[in-house]
Amino acid sequence: MAPTIKAKTGRIENERTDAIIFARFQDDSRLQGALAQIDRLTRGRVKPLLTSGEFQGKANQVSVLHMHGEIPAKRVVLVGLGKKSLAKADAFRRAIATASKALRSMEATTFSIAVPERGVAGATLEETSQAITEGSILGLYQFLVYKSKPAIQKKPIRAITLVTPDENSIFAVRAGAERGTIVADAVNAVRDLCNHPSNVVTPTRLAQEAKAIAKSKNVTCTILDRAKARKLGMGAYLGVAQGSHEPPQFIVLEYSGTSKKTKPIALVGKAVTFDTGGISLKPADNMERMKADMTGGAIVLSTIRAIAQLKLPLNVVGIVPATENMPGGQATKPGDILTSLSGKTIEVLNTDAEGRLILADGLAYAMRYKPAMVIDIATLTGAVFVALGSHAVGVLGTDDALINRVTRVGEAIGERAWQLPLWDEYKEQIKSDVADVKNIGGRGGGTITAAAFLSHFVGDCSWVHLDIAGTDWGEAPRHYIPKGPTGIGTRLVIQLLRDVAAKP
Ligand code: BES
Ligand code: MN
Ligand code: ZN
Repeated sequence: MAPTIKAKTGRIENERTDAIIFARFQDDSRLQGALAQIDRLTRGRVKPLLTSGEFQGKANQVSVLHMHGEIPAKRVVLVGLGKKSLAKADAFRRAIATASKALRSMEATTFSIAVPERGVAGATLEETSQAITEGSILGLYQFLVYKSKPAIQKKPIRAITLVTPDENSIFAVRAGAERGTIVADAVNAVRDLCNHPSNVVTPTRLAQEAKAIAKSKNVTCTILDRAKARKLGMGAYLGVAQGSHEPPQFIVLEYSGTSKKTKPIALVGKAVTFDTGGISLKPADNMERMKADMTGGAIVLSTIRAIAQLKLPLNVVGIVPATENMPGGQATKPGDILTSLSGKTIEVLNTDAEGRLILADGLAYAMRYKPAMVIDIATLTGAVFVALGSHAVGVLGTDDALINRVTRVGEAIGERAWQLPLWDEYKEQIKSDVADVKNIGGRGGGTITAAAFLSHFVGDCSWVHLDIAGTDWGEAPRHYIPKGPTGIGTRLVIQLLRDVAAKP
């Protein structure tokens, strides 16, 4: 269970709780406000921590002081934000996540956080409060569904309170806490869907999730099964699905948050619930990670739920082609030619390049809505990890203004994206001898040739493609990112939509 987050006005030193947290910049030994008051009440037990060099405020450094009844709280926790000149709101997200995890390991179950008096590091107070909230909820994320002894779990954190001394700030702090809760819950829902194994999160299960989301106000859901997809002519998508006994589900969620006349934004998410590679079978090592090859689809589902909760004044259609990619007697074979929904024919030279096949039909379906813009998100290529490692999402597309918006938003919220070029030359690499296009582009520029392939199915629509295959899986836990599925891309898409809603 995620902790409950509240915001309140008051003096943090009066909080009756397991701990109160102060986030502090590096090389700032000043004692002011509540911390100065606590220093007085404890006869100077705070000051030496700051002046001795024991606590320097380095990013994610944690110091804990036990109280002996001088204040109602049991502990005072200092956590470092790093250098002020370098800090962004993300420093709060990271620091608060680190402190939250430390407190859980000490079996604290409640704590309060001192919110800075005004926004810091280029963020508003509302954004800072949002970052603090997200840091807690994202940092405390655990996936224990399949552990049969709940006892091995440390006591969960139940309640977190953001405390501001200023009556006038409470509205901003509360708004940030509410938004942060919605956004972080959306990310954790994606992590859950990716952590569940593929024998649980099947295309059918994703369709059920979509139907549950469609219970929200202003959201409707349509599911196309194999027969309906065949009738429409989704040959690329069905070419991937035909090797699997799991029924494919082509999921469409529509959110209407504004006038029907407003053109929608289309989101398309890859949802391969397990990618074996098909006949072009993947090697065994790490193949289990391919249970998370539905991250893009999960992000689209979670985003629709979140924007309905946020009541964004937009119309958004979420499209999630869901299927397994399996070898088998019916499976597509290298050399097979598929006719996509768009009418273009595709020579399948590698059945492991399946994401672009299902996206081809997902994007073509999106075009039926004549969208103002289309954003697709997919664990599409191992090559994006080669290019950017795990610190940036790959972004490509047809609209440089939209791409710049993505990179700016990503920088602001701590989910960075980096553009790769999509020049016409790359399209040469995916020309087929026998069909309109082929699904692989040779050795160089794998992320780019994948995007070049997708560009065939978006016409001249304003389009961005987010390749999240490099950021999708954490090798080791760090601050608010767990080991395993990260959910990275969720905050980016939600914030992008908020940005578009504010400045169309
Ligand atoms: N789902 C994979 C991409 C992937 C790789 C995601 C590693 C996460 C981690 C995708 O379907 C795939 O197999 N891509 C191939 C494309 C190649 C055959 C052109 C790849 O990247 O190797
Ligand atoms: Mn694949
Ligand atoms: Zn895949």
